[in-house]
Amino acid sequence: MTFEKHVAIDFTKVKPSVMKMQGISETTMTEHFKLYNGYVNKYNEVMEQIEALSNDDVKAGQITHSKIRSLKTALAFALGGTINHEVYFHNLGGSGGKPSGKLISQIEKDFGSYERFEAELRGTAMAARGWAFLCWNKDMKRLLIVIGDDQSTFPVWNSRLLLACDVYEHAYYLDYKTGRAAYLDAFFKNVDWKDVETRFEMALK
Ligand SMILES: [Fe+2]
Repeated sequence: MTFEKHVAIDFTKVKPSVMKMQGISETTMTEHFKLYNGYVNKYNEVMEQIEALSNDDVKAGQITHSKIRSLKTALAFALGGTINHEVYFHNLGGSGGKPSGKLISQIEKDFGSYERFEAELRGTAMAARGWAFLCWNKDMKRLLIVIGDDQSTFPVWNSRLLLACDVYEHAYYLDYKTGRAAYLDAFFKNVDWKDVETRFEMALK
């Protein structure tokens, strides 16, 4: 087996605009990158440990406690934490407003209007314990807004993640204390809709 380590993205270099946002401070982002790097490191560590399991360990799966259970639950959490944050950071650093092109047409088709879509995404983000996600569901051929209550919950199969909104308190506590609604105002002011549109184009292919 050959496991290739995932290398954490340096968003300060790949997307420096995320360090100069209105309403989401550089300090918040710097701290958030530390958490993201932690998920990447844990993903690499867990994958190495899975590869190192003996055949006996692999066969000894058990639901209360077993090495493979611990590693597989950690894998889903660490990989979810890695991917969720990579999409979220790429989604930020823009100038907000509204999407355009095929994405706005699909939003209007599936949600009635942009205003209704944004209200539903905000409401979902207020109701979530970890993440609100916009995804393109390939089976239903429609956009869906869903909750991910922790890093490892993304409940809808065959969905491509387009927009991730982190609502764990670490995403806003330094800037707004417990004021999640004010953070969501800032989130929408900084969405990079071009990034979301590109993800949608890729999902349609
Ligand atoms: Fe986060």
